[in-house]
Amino acid sequence: MGMLIKNGNVVMVEDGKISKMDVLIDKGIIAEISPEINRNDVEVIDIEEKFLIPGLIDMHVHFRDPGYTHKEDIHSGSKAALAGGFTGVLMMPNTDPPPDNATVVYYWKEKSKNIPLNILFSGCITKGRAGKELSKLHELKEAGVVAITDDGNWVANGAVFRHAMEYAAALDLLVITHAEEPTIANRGVINEGYWSTVLGLRGIPKAAENVAIYRDIEIAKITGAKLHVAHLSTAEGVRLVAAAKKLGLKVTAEVTPYHLVLTDEALAGYDTNLKVNPPLREAEEQKALLKGLLEGVIDVIATDHAPHASYEKNVEFNDAPFGMEGLETAFPVLYTELVLTKKITLEKLLLKMTVNPAKILQLPKQGDIKKGNYANLTIIDPKLTLKVSEELLVGKSKNNPFLGKTLTGWPVMTIYQGIVAYQRLLKGVQ
Ligand code: DOR
Ligand code: ZN
Repeated sequence: MGMLIKNGNVVMVEDGKISKMDVLIDKGIIAEISPEINRNDVEVIDIEEKFLIPGLIDMHVHFRDPGYTHKEDIHSGSKAALAGGFTGVLMMPNTDPPPDNATVVYYWKEKSKNIPLNILFSGCITKGRAGKELSKLHELKEAGVVAITDDGNWVANGAVFRHAMEYAAALDLLVITHAEEPTIANRGVINEGYWSTVLGLRGIPKAAENVAIYRDIEIAKITGAKLHVAHLSTAEGVRLVAAAKKLGLKVTAEVTPYHLVLTDEALAGYDTNLKVNPPLREAEEQKALLKGLLEGVIDVIATDHAPHASYEKNVEFNDAPFGMEGLETAFPVLYTELVLTKKITLEKLLLKMTVNPAKILQLPKQGDIKKGNYANLTIIDPKLTLKVSEELLVGKSKNNPFLGKTLTGWPVMTIYQGIVAYQRLLKGVQ
């Protein structure tokens, strides 16, 4: 059965256009987009000028499965993704066991096969993410991973990383780098600067990130491999990525919603939910990240959804794990803080959350609202204002830094290949 979505403000991202259109879905595909379509043989929904956007694609999520399923698992993570308006996610490999060979990938495939979400897999660069010996990269590629990364760990050994990049170039695998040189980071817990001094917490210098990005780009240069820099947090990182792009290297980069809207000043209350790696930085760095995003140096916004149980976060700051959960709130956070304040247009924001990740991950027929594409669509209510509560967080963990904040522009329906995969029930909450 098909579906007709009437009277939406349809965002065609690549064209940079928002126009009032009707959209017809047939057999999971977008069959027609035009100012007026009338059909009585399919389900019709009138969305009354809400936004109809392409399903969001998140290149960086931690679903903790296998190994840490008390924090999240594939089912609960998918629920959080769909509630956040996402129709595609790339799972990170810091699981136990980690996917350094095909076995975990087969487990993931089996467990995710009936979930209405495009779940993509990344494999480890090195065995056990230990940075010493390469994973079975050929086997991982054959099993279906689209990227390799040791996320959480930077591959510090240059020879190992070069070797991995050579394989990646030959296998057409994207290499995602968690760029942090560990001896410079030196067990820091927040950004090194004014606030680490005031709070008496060990700092992570920006140099740790900058040095790592510089090394990785040099290796991209000699191997020709595709390098994607995860969760950029420094101005110098933006400059390095811009320079690499200018040279024509296949280098792309992402930033998280948190680094775009929060700074290290927020840590004044020692809230462990704000402890994240890379750490929140100063306003100056944040400005450079936003500028890089607007100018196209930063291609993607990815959540780095990193759920942790409250008993794990509810400890001394130094002992808490790094990470924030946030699939459910990513879009309203960005809409409220960046679009409504006119720092970025909705079309441009979506470019970073739909079209660009689809291109980088080479996902055909996804990422935009176009005839012939999969009907992966999200309806956003631009007037809906809700206070972030634990109830709104549908994943297993509640370590969201925006709890208690009032946000506008929530996803109210997520459609995956023509099927309603999520619908927000508004129990009289305003
Ligand atoms: O803060 C983070 N948490 N950064 C990472 O790179 C890993 C993530 C996690 O797995 O919790
Ligand atoms: Zn990371």
